[in-house]
Amino acid sequence: MWSYRRSSTEPLGKTLLVASRVVTCDTRGLDPLGVVAPGAVLLDGERIAEVGPAEALLARHRDVARFEHAGLVTPGLVDAHTHAAWVGTRAEEYAMRMAGADYEAIAAKGGGIVASMRAVRAASGDELAKALHARVVRMLDMGVTTLEVKSGYGLSEVDERKQLEAIRTISGDGVPTLVPTFLGLHALPPEARTGARDDRAHYAERATGWLDGLARDGLARYVDAYLDRAAFSVGEARPFLERARELGLGVRLHVGQFADVGGAELAASLGAASVDHLEHLSRSGADALAAAGTSAVLLPVASYTLGQASPDVAALRAAGVPLVVASDANPGTAPTESLPLAMAFAARSYGLTVDEVVLGVTARAAASLGVDAGRLAPGSPADLVLWDLGHEAELLQPWGTSKVRHVVLRGDGPF
Ligand code: NIG
Ligand code: FE
Repeated sequence: MWSYRRSSTEPLGKTLLVASRVVTCDTRGLDPLGVVAPGAVLLDGERIAEVGPAEALLARHRDVARFEHAGLVTPGLVDAHTHAAWVGTRAEEYAMRMAGADYEAIAAKGGGIVASMRAVRAASGDELAKALHARVVRMLDMGVTTLEVKSGYGLSEVDERKQLEAIRTISGDGVPTLVPTFLGLHALPPEARTGARDDRAHYAERATGWLDGLARDGLARYVDAYLDRAAFSVGEARPFLERARELGLGVRLHVGQFADVGGAELAASLGAASVDHLEHLSRSGADALAAAGTSAVLLPVASYTLGQASPDVAALRAAGVPLVVASDANPGTAPTESLPLAMAFAARSYGLTVDEVVLGVTARAAASLGVDAGRLAPGSPADLVLWDLGHEAELLQPWGTSKVRHVVLRGDGPF
């Protein structure tokens, strides 16, 4: 446990954090990552008041309590795609898949997402909240101070609500900022299958009916749908997504994981915040995303687990689509809670540069979620990570060990 939990209720004061290298991820300057070395950050309560060269801030703030860190400081990491509200295990299915069984075939037989649905339906709200809390605190310890959490393992109104309510229940002190997404169209629950016939259109209509209540109760900020050859079609998902837009909810979509079924074009026409996965995407799809200002959320752990080729990163770059990197934390295709592991794979499997990875888990991830995070700048929330590292390139390797020294969450740190 490296991150600090406040035990007193005393108001937070001012602290001048001085470090050998501060990566601000403030892209407004000439340097792509906004590096200041040596640098300093003036924290005032839950916000950042000033960022700049150490010498200048030390001279200006002689009376302020000082905290020195001989290493790297970055913004708190932002994980823009997780399915963290799950319970149970699919370890047996994982072993079967690693021995050659196929993900889509397992799902067609009632495994996969529906297996997690059974576990979520069987769990109480409390059990779900406890599991989610433990998981997001582990993520916090790996440097994640903001994350998106999807529902999508309930697949009925009451169970989807149970997931979204768990997100709300655990939000607060000592917990990363959580952005809730109603993943209404993730898979078909067994009750929506009659014999060999799947009634996706009818299920999508029912899920559309749940939107008003969820929006009224403020339980979701985004909606999501899984658009793919073995999931929902563009035609089935469109009315659900359009109603969500009318209610003021944003759109994020699972697109092109196994096949390009036109999800990118649909996303662009709806002004979606993000499309995620993208192992299969046409050039015109990439252009449509760029024109709409939709971000591409890359999920390299999922494609690694499934043994897939990477998305066409060069085409996304050439089109000018903002690149985000996320964990996809889930019990099936991305069996990890670690955004740093996804960062390592984004470089190793997808060929992203250090700058692309760092911005993809900070400023660009935050922009895709529409949250004020991922940047060290005056007025931003004081969410930071102090790493036992000298340079941001060291974030991408070695794999599998955490070099987090301290996490500062909303100004609450080791001071
Ligand atoms: O992002 N592709 C669909 N959804 C998840 C998988 C969820 C699961 O297998 O439980 C994904 O990969
Ligand atoms: Fe996902």
